[in-house]
Amino acid sequence: MSKNRRLVTRRHALQLGLASLVGVGASVTVEAMRQNYQAQQNQALDNPRRNFTVVGQNSLKKRAAAKGLIYGAATEQVKLSSDIAFATHYVQECGILVTENQLKWIILRPTPDRFDFTPGDWLAEFARTHGMLFRGHTLVWEQVLPKWFGEVVNRQNAEKILVEHITEVVKHYSGKVHSWDVVNEAIAVSYSNRPDGLSLNPWMLFLGESYIDLAFRTAAAADPHTMLVYNDRWLDYDTPRDNAQRIAVLKLLERLKTSGTPLHALGIQAHLNASETRFNPKKLRKFLADVASLGLKILVTELDVIDKDLPKDIKVRDRIVASVYEDYLNVVLDEKAVIAVLTWGLSDRYTWLATYEPRKDRAPVRTLPLDSNLKPKLAWNAMARAFDNAPKR
Ligand code: G3I
Repeated sequence: MSKNRRLVTRRHALQLGLASLVGVGASVTVEAMRQNYQAQQNQALDNPRRNFTVVGQNSLKKRAAAKGLIYGAATEQVKLSSDIAFATHYVQECGILVTENQLKWIILRPTPDRFDFTPGDWLAEFARTHGMLFRGHTLVWEQVLPKWFGEVVNRQNAEKILVEHITEVVKHYSGKVHSWDVVNEAIAVSYSNRPDGLSLNPWMLFLGESYIDLAFRTAAAADPHTMLVYNDRWLDYDTPRDNAQRIAVLKLLERLKTSGTPLHALGIQAHLNASETRFNPKKLRKFLADVASLGLKILVTELDVIDKDLPKDIKVRDRIVASVYEDYLNVVLDEKAVIAVLTWGLSDRYTWLATYEPRKDRAPVRTLPLDSNLKPKLAWNAMARAFDNAPKR
């Protein structure tokens, strides 16, 4: 019997205060207990009286800019080229275009000896035409590598291939990129068996930890004026995993700075979970201050809020999601080293969470500032309020 199907007796359920479940039958499952607990927690998360009023009509990009901040969102060519209404809102709200998928190896490298810059170039041009900054994601990541990668890359040629890739791609966009996620998700405390938390990705296996420094030095040589970012996840909460991840990331950043690696900023992904209550502003503030004290800037790079365990009721759900946005941003934006807030998508019409974190009841997820009809939600208000309240950079 699987772990979460384990049976709980009627008496045990009563002891746990789950009286409402006991009537269902002689026994209940752990899953039912979990749902009940979730319902109680949701009630605690929701404050129907919370005020999300916003002053004025300005877009998110204008409100951010007024504080010396950049706001933008990740997107793809197909969304901007085939959906004019979406593209119009995107240009209105965003000051920076972030490439969600088009600059990943799987798209850029159809074969070992060919680069396909077509979709990336389209996005760079879209950003230029609309007066937006342009941001590259990502040069080194263990996921979404092309099929040929595993057959071609080995210990002997790994360094040459890594250097070639970074040099070619960064030079191609030289002068056009505000910032590059040079290395993404190198630390994975929850599945690394190393004390430093480094993930055993192909680069790590073939080149050891030095691949990180090599990636940054190569990117700096190819475009000396762009901002070079180390980007990672699981840095937000007071959970054993996130606490360990923060320590490991901070140590990595310290090691890189000590060895003179041309690293300019930390990217905090911030895929937040609305049902995670272990948010500890004090710990987060301390982490951000520690990062800033290394002379690094900080970008919130992939912000969104997972709503999969929240009630279906849209009013309640939107209120909780908005609270998560505002509470998080109020803490993060107090740190002056934070220069940008980027959401992972702009509208619920297009979000990776619909596929990767769907709701059990199949209701469409409501995770981003605009709903699927491109109307601003309370999450938009929450972001606008956080920008308005942020200290000036
Ligand atoms: O390109 C194919 C397309 O030809 C095909 O028609 C379509 C059918 O499903 O799939 C397309 O590829 C998808 C691709 O996104 C482009 O939309 C892949 O299946 C899908 O797996 C891929 O997912 C992306 C994922 O990274 C993996 O690259 C998500 O959109 C993207 O939001 C997500 O972003 C990551 C960041 O890069 C790193 N941090 C976490 C974040 C969320 O997972």
